[in-house]
This record gives sequence, structure tokens and C-alpha cells, in this order.
Amino acid sequence: MNVSVWAAFIMTIHLAKNFANLSLLWRAWFVFALGNLLVACGGSEGPSSDPVQPPVIINKAAEKVWDLSRSMGPGINFGNMLDAPNEGDWGLTVKQEYIQAAWAQGFRTIRLPVRWSNHASGAYPYTIDGAFLNRVTSVVDQMLAQGFHVVLNMHHHRQLDGDTIDLGDFLVPDAILEERFVSIWSQIGHHFASRSDKLLFELYNEPHGLLTANRWNALADTTLKQIRISNKERVVVIGPTSFNDPYALSTLVMPADPYLMATVHFYQPFAFTHQGVSWVTPQLPVGTTCCDPEQSSTIFAGIQHSRYWSDATGYPVLLGEFGAYSAADTASRVNYTRLVRQTATANRMPWVYWEFASDFGIYDPVANAFRPELTQALLGN
Ligand code: BGC
Repeated sequence: MNVSVWAAFIMTIHLAKNFANLSLLWRAWFVFALGNLLVACGGSEGPSSDPVQPPVIINKAAEKVWDLSRSMGPGINFGNMLDAPNEGDWGLTVKQEYIQAAWAQGFRTIRLPVRWSNHASGAYPYTIDGAFLNRVTSVVDQMLAQGFHVVLNMHHHRQLDGDTIDLGDFLVPDAILEERFVSIWSQIGHHFASRSDKLLFELYNEPHGLLTANRWNALADTTLKQIRISNKERVVVIGPTSFNDPYALSTLVMPADPYLMATVHFYQPFAFTHQGVSWVTPQLPVGTTCCDPEQSSTIFAGIQHSRYWSDATGYPVLLGEFGAYSAADTASRVNYTRLVRQTATANRMPWVYWEFASDFGIYDPVANAFRPELTQALLGN
């Protein structure tokens, strides 16, 4: 006890002995001094009315997020459309008839990759181009109106990963990349804040390269805080580095927030799924089939690894991409697609196939028809 506490103690004893003879003012002082004395003796160092609360660490998803993960249904990526430098550059645009066809076929979730980085100003406050925002809005609203869950993401921000940029990419000074990323998400957040819970935000597709785990964890945390200003409970999807590799989940620090879902991409066996693609160097030879016991166990192991992480952390994991390039033979693509889809479902992971109508596609945009074997591998038994 310090000197002032001793003084209060002696004064209080004195007043207590003479309580009956005290004026109202002194009686009030007695009650006040006794209260303070009790607090002081209780060892409190600070003012009793403002106790310092430890931060509440929430490290698992709310039941609402688990419910959502169970209701997402079969999913399809509308890839190579709005994630091209400009919509149409890679031969596809989003069409209302694609949205309707995907719904009629039985898909219930669309992941919508968007190259926002190419459509926002290079100077603070990095305003998103109005015409582009209107276009994305009309696409998202058509999908929501159709009944889909929509996973709206940021895709192919080449400069952020330190990748070679694409023809038609818009470059900005490196020093503002992260601030701009956060600002773009802040704008997306405010713009779509009134949409239903069926709209999910996914912070970034396949962080890699310059986006190391530490840098990505910090950027994801800052970005989420901005989004939470306008979207208190919207489900936000976050994936690990190394191109959303399940085995990098251990390096992902999920922010303390209950409205999160994790995501991974799974393209193993890679020599099969990416045979003949132009963007892998050296190019993988065509002719690899799928799925022998070794290939199958690679698939089981990767998906089960995600499941173990989900069990340990309490967050659902979305399989946001898997698929096989069109250079592989159809029977093998069917085997692979069915096996991955069934394994994900058995491990209660919602899944989204890569992709609708481009070079991994299940839909032929020339014939305007689904490719029956692949579609059946996704939607059949
Ligand atoms: C990329 C696509 C690519 C696919 C498979 C996606 O994340 O956005 O461009 O085709 O992965 O490699």
C-alpha cells in the first residue's frame, strides 16, 4: 500500500467510528473513500471503471460459414473472361446464356475471377474505372439473380507476385502496390455491401513469388480490416501462398475473424493436368494418362491434408480450382475429374471446377453445348 492509501485508510477508520454524528457530506465522502480503499487493497493498479480486456482471439469459423460451405453445391469458374487484361482478350466474355446454362445444368456456385488491377487508377485513391465496375456489377447481379453463390475475387495481379506481365497490363510504381490493393478492396467492399450473403469475397488468387507467407499474411489482415468497415459479416475467402497449395496452409495465418473460409487449388498430378500448356516451362509432354494408384494416392493425400487443416483450425476449406487441360485424353480427364470431385465431397470440401468454356472447359462455346463426359464426371454419381 502506498502513502495515499494509508491516509485514506486512517481517515476512513476515523469516519467509521463517528459515522452516526457525521453530516451528509462527510457520510458520502466515507462511502467514496471506503470504495477506493477496497479497490486499492484488491491490488488493482488502474481505474476500476476501465479494465483492460485481453483481445478476443477467434480462430474458427462461425456456424453461418459452415452452413454456407454446405449449401454451395457444385461450382464452376467463369475463368478467362474478366481475368484477361481486358474482357474478351482471351476469346471469352461473360454471357447471360452461360449463366443460365450453368444453372440449368445443376451448378450452384460461380467463382468469378476479375483482373481489378488493370482497371483502377495508378494514383491515390486508386479509383476503379466506372465502366468496368458497372460491367462487373451487372455480371455479379445476373449471377445472384439466377440464384448462384458468387465468389468474387482479385485475379492475376501480375506485378504483386513479381510475375512477367501480360500484354495489355497496366503498370504502377511498386511502392504503391499494397496500398492500392487495399484501396481497391475497400471500394469493392463499399460497392457490394448491400448484396446478399450469397456473395463471397476472395482476397487474391494464388499468391506466390514476391508474395511470401509473411507478406501475404500481413496484407490479407490489413485488407480484411478495410473490408470489415463496410461488410461486417460477409464471408471472405483466403488462401495460402505457393499458388494456394494445400501444403502451404500451415503458413497461412487466418485473421481473428469468424466469417472466413480458407481456399486451396489442387492440380496434382501436375504432369497430367498441365500437359501441353504454354505457360509452364519447360512444356510438359502430352500423353500422360490418369489415374493409376500412385496418382490416386497423390490426390487423396493433398485433399486429406486440407481436411486435417480444416479439422485442426475450425475453418471450412473451399477447393477453388481443379481441372485438367484439354490436351489430355478425355477418358483420363473424366477419371481425374470424378476422383477429385468425389474425394473433395467425401472430405466435406465445397469445390469449383476450373473452368467453364476455355481450354480446361466443360462447355463448348462454338457448339454452345456442355461436353457430356466431363459434365457427368462433375455432376453424376
Ligand atoms: C489461372 C489460369 C490457369 C489455371 C490453371 C488459374 O489460377 O488463373 O490462367 O489456366 O490456374 O493453371
